[in-house]
Amino acid sequence: MKFFIDTADVNAIREAHAMGLVDGVTTNPSLIAKTGRDQKSVLEEICEFVDGPVSAEVIATDFDGMLAEARKLAAMAENIVVKVPLIAEGLKATRALNDEGIAVNMTLCFNSLQALLAAKAGAAYISPFIGRLDDIAHVGMDIIREIRTIYDNYGYETEILVASVRNPLHVLDAALVGADVATNPPAVIMKMAKHPLTDRGLEAFLADHRKAQGS
Ligand code: G3P
Repeated sequence: MKFFIDTADVNAIREAHAMGLVDGVTTNPSLIAKTGRDQKSVLEEICEFVDGPVSAEVIATDFDGMLAEARKLAAMAENIVVKVPLIAEGLKATRALNDEGIAVNMTLCFNSLQALLAAKAGAAYISPFIGRLDDIAHVGMDIIREIRTIYDNYGYETEILVASVRNPLHVLDAALVGADVATNPPAVIMKMAKHPLTDRGLEAFLADHRKAQGS
């Protein structure tokens, strides 16, 4: 399973990268806004040390605007993947960008039929937002299961990129269902690495070592 990191905070990406937990990065306009920097400078800095796919989202909502923005984003680095919203114009743009050899991550996906449309349009990734579905009392993970079945039924190569991950159980369930990628916020990565028994065991080992050394 691939782990992307869902943030535009370059220090947080460096930290997770040093732990070997950054197979790629996903950003969106809200995450870029949080940095207080412009999208271009943030993306260029990330692409200096991340080799895997780095998703960068378009702001335009019309076909021509999306294409123009996507081409600019793709020109910034060869590992940029353009994030396009799952609307009708976005499907058209995805088809056209795919024909141009620009990889697309279709975002704001909230059901499995939208994911089927994305695969048919040639998206490299589909981003179902599971946390936001959970927020409105729909079980987000159910659509990951459905998408996995649909893609496997027909051999679609679009990768399922589980987004809007809010906790470690989301990652565990995504792995059990066979999602290709989970894009994890930095806080979720740190939570996954933590176990009270690991901490307690480590403390005991160190205390015993100190005792044996007579210190
Ligand atoms: O990158 C998109 C996504 O992961 C958003 O997450 O927590 O804002 O729903 P969230």
